[in-house]
Amino acid sequence: MAEDLFVRARSAMRKAHAPYSKFPVGAALRTRDGRIYAGCNVEVVSFPEGWCAETTAISQMVMDGGGEIAEIAVVAEKLSQCSPCGGCRQRIAEFGRPETRIHLCDAEGGVRTTLTLDEMLPRSFPTEALS
Ligand code: THU
Repeated sequence: MAEDLFVRARSAMRKAHAPYSKFPVGAALRTRDGRIYAGCNVEVVSFPEGWCAETTAISQMVMDGGGEIAEIAVVAEKLSQCSPCGGCRQRIAEFGRPETRIHLCDAEGGVRTTLTLDEMLPRSFPTEALS
């Protein structure tokens, strides 16, 4: 079921602009209504200005009208299970639910581990806090 997301994430990873870290990452998310958006990491010579693959995928979703993330796959060339960074977990929380599935993938083998957002970011800062 999530294998299609893995394939899209891996294709995105191959487009990464990661000349400084040499650590290409790809992500692909599925919205609750079935749309898929993918992204890669994009680095900048002023290092803190670069951004993550998950961020690109989420931006694509927002630019296409937004949505809610049902599941997201992440893959890196050099890690057998690439786990979203802390900032990206909060970004996924912004557009997901506690039960949103996060698939940690291996570039050769596909989905290795699936966790919920609640497992990866327990007791997250709730978006309702600002309403
Ligand atoms: N990176 C991502 O794209 N996603 C993550 O969740 C972790 C880190 C990228 C950022 C940077 O371009 C490279 O990996 C090395 O940190």
